[in-house]
Amino acid sequence: MRALTWHGKNDVRVDTHPDPTIVNPRDVILKVTSTAICGSDLHLFDGVIPGLIPGDILGHEFMGEVVETGPKSTLKKGQRVVVPFTISCGHCFFCQKGQFSACDNGNPVENQEASEKLYGHAMGGAFGYSHLTGGYPGGQAEYVRVPYSDVGPIVIPDHLDDDTVLFLSDILPTGWMAAENAMIEPGDTVAVWGCGPVGLFSVQSAVLMGAETVIAIDHHPHRLELAKKFGAKTINFEETHVLEALMEMTAGIGPDAVIDAVGMEAHGFAVDNIIDVVKQNIAPAADRGHAFREALLACRKGGRVSVPGVYGGMLDKFPLGAMMEKGLTIKSGQTHVQKYTKQLLEMIEEGKIDTTFLISHHLPLEEAVTGYKNFRDNQNEWTKVVLRA
Ligand SMILES: NC(=O)c1ccc[n+]([C@@H]2O[C@H](COP(=O)([O-])OP(=O)(O)OC[C@H]3O[C@@H](n4cnc5c(N)ncnc54)[C@H](O)[C@@H]3O)[C@@H](O)[C@H]2O)c1
Ligand SMILES: [Zn+2]
Ligand SMILES: [Zn+2]
Repeated sequence: MRALTWHGKNDVRVDTHPDPTIVNPRDVILKVTSTAICGSDLHLFDGVIPGLIPGDILGHEFMGEVVETGPKSTLKKGQRVVVPFTISCGHCFFCQKGQFSACDNGNPVENQEASEKLYGHAMGGAFGYSHLTGGYPGGQAEYVRVPYSDVGPIVIPDHLDDDTVLFLSDILPTGWMAAENAMIEPGDTVAVWGCGPVGLFSVQSAVLMGAETVIAIDHHPHRLELAKKFGAKTINFEETHVLEALMEMTAGIGPDAVIDAVGMEAHGFAVDNIIDVVKQNIAPAADRGHAFREALLACRKGGRVSVPGVYGGMLDKFPLGAMMEKGLTIKSGQTHVQKYTKQLLEMIEEGKIDTTFLISHHLPLEEAVTGYKNFRDNQNEWTKVVLRA
């Protein structure tokens, strides 16, 4: 089969690999019909996440048709499913609590040491996202093996096309959980850093959860325009001093909740970011935390900080004093996708959530490399790339 393969920093290619086979009784094999490139994939493309091996197949946002089932799968051949990016057993201590991305069984034991050393505990499993999360081949491929198929994938009714539901695999639940973690109360002002797919779904979710004012921050005019579609006010951080503007827009109080949907590769020429860029180039476990720092400084006293943006390693110049002295609550994490898929599928069916506004480009899998380059280098126009396998 053909699959998008990581060969090193800035080097991904579509190569030929052996077809996957059933390994465990709960597995299925999926023929991928649609798969997307995520901002998280860019961290792999840019070489800032450790633990990849040349030859690894990427991709954690995908859906397709079941073509082979293990004896303990509850799925049937021919069903169309969307697959959560998190690989979760459904039975362990964490899955029982709905903390699916923390599942203790998704990440095989032989892979656990590296993340145990980095984070104190082993990470859960994920598709196509380095050997820190299990080394699973991803779904930017013609076929993929899906473990725990009896608890993860969600069956899609025939009347919903791929583009409408594909983002249930990650970015829609991620934006939703980001807004949930912001613990929005009626009348709240919520500021969102980053108008990529995650930021835009955070904006849409915050509005649905009752935020009175949502302020979206980015420097790409087209992405800011998309945020306006959901009623957000916008700040272009290249034209406006973000902290001053937020204070002005909130009568000197600061936003009640802030969402960092940027993560470890913040843009901009702030002094802290220039230092971070240099450090990240020499040490892969270094994060560029400018958006996170700014969000902490902006948040009102007693406010909430939600961090869906991915961070991988160590961050210095972290305003710990702002967190403590202002009494901020911080919530973060890889998304517990399985917890949200059913509810969000219903909201899509009821027309309450718009998903397709985001897609700027469809490409065949063979042209995935073009998709990676443009999604990273032409962010303003390339808001989301869907690959047809
Ligand atoms: N928690 C999870 O489970 C989860 C899931 C998916 C993605 N993510 C992470 O969410 C983040 C966003 O993902 P995406 O797909 O939207 O990525 P993206 O790269 O498409 O978007 C990031 C956006 O942030 C903007 N940005 C950069 N620096 C900024 C700054 N200083 N201030 C304001 N905006 C700034 C960029 O211009 C860009 O539009 C990434 O870190 C990704 O890894 C997390
Ligand atoms: Zn993703
Ligand atoms: Zn589990």
